[in-house]
Amino acid sequence: MTALPLLSEPRKADVAPPQSIPVYLPWLTEAESRAAQAALDLGWLGMGSYVGEFEAALKGLVATPDHHVVAVNTGHAALHLAMVLAGAGPGTEVITPSFNNIADLQAIAAVGAEPVFCDIEDATLSIDLDRAERLIGPKTKAIVVMDYGCHLCDHDRVRHIADKYGVRIIHDAAHALGSAYKGAPVGSFSDIAMFSFDPVKTVTTIDGGALVVRSDAERAQLHEMRLIGMKQASTVMYGNQRAWNYDVERIGFRYHLANLHAAIGLAQLARFDQIVETRRRAFVTYVEGLDGLPGLRVPQQDVTEVVPFMFYVRVLNGRRDEFRSYLSTHGVDTGIHWQPAHWFTLFRNCRRGDLATTETVGREIVSLPFHSNMSPVAQTRVIELVQAFFR
Ligand SMILES: Cc1ncc(COP(=O)(O)O)c(C=O)c1O
Repeated sequence: MTALPLLSEPRKADVAPPQSIPVYLPWLTEAESRAAQAALDLGWLGMGSYVGEFEAALKGLVATPDHHVVAVNTGHAALHLAMVLAGAGPGTEVITPSFNNIADLQAIAAVGAEPVFCDIEDATLSIDLDRAERLIGPKTKAIVVMDYGCHLCDHDRVRHIADKYGVRIIHDAAHALGSAYKGAPVGSFSDIAMFSFDPVKTVTTIDGGALVVRSDAERAQLHEMRLIGMKQASTVMYGNQRAWNYDVERIGFRYHLANLHAAIGLAQLARFDQIVETRRRAFVTYVEGLDGLPGLRVPQQDVTEVVPFMFYVRVLNGRRDEFRSYLSTHGVDTGIHWQPAHWFTLFRNCRRGDLATTETVGREIVSLPFHSNMSPVAQTRVIELVQAFFR
């Protein structure tokens, strides 16, 4: 019998060359390894008790006792379920910034609704609510509001619009975990809020997501939809047991979070204060080092209440590609978050308002390396290189 080939030991250098500074770098410690090991040792790998614990811990951070937190396996899954809750479907429209993650757009498309593209504000790169209001029509079911990078939307105004027009708000808070708006935790004031815990997020479960909803009926609906429609199954599985007796009343998906992932998320949440502190420090260091350089715009944001997820810059005068290749030559990786969605083939014919700011930002935006516990040496290197480029 031929022996199975052993997987070779992965080396760090396979992931990133030693000299390079990646855009994202997860901050995983012994605590996450121990948590993962404990979940493996438990032997119950799927939806189970760790998921319930993770939801409870997350609730403490993003919601009030009256809310319900439902964990799923990606942010995209959370968005898809949010669209179903909002009643978006064929013949309806969902207003969204074109400057958004493609996961939001695919969630709208997945339920058969039509995205309607709205412009963003120049200062916060979040949805322009004046323009969003003008795009609301008889087919509008929901508006996606997304807090970009290190900014928050004007959520008072969002609430006002939702009440005035009777549309559902889907709050994409993937970038805003742990932030507060006028003292209220992000997640606690929205109609439907979602988070992502993908590998690069402020808190990772490797892959994962969550929804925060207010009504018990919606919690129950989500419990069914994340477990291929099986009624009663979530409750049983929280006890690390299989549900053999259940009814199926609605369409569902295999979107539940698994114990192993939830265990890692719990370890991350236990270290959340350290994560926040180091991210705020890195953000302020960047602003101090880069603000005022000719040809460059940096975010203007007080991060006392905000937990920054990204550090983006805007490169003016058509120099974005030159800037990115200069940094790449010097071993610094950069990202583009994002290409506007109306530039993609699938979405190019969708209804839209004026997208002037989106067009400009889409050509200027660059994400610089930004990590929890970012190495001061790495950050100083990035700052000096950027200064040298613009001076
Ligand atoms: C704003 C935003 N929404 C949604 C998502 C999708 O989350 P996930 O990658 O967990 O599917 C992301 C992921 O990067 C995101 O940045």
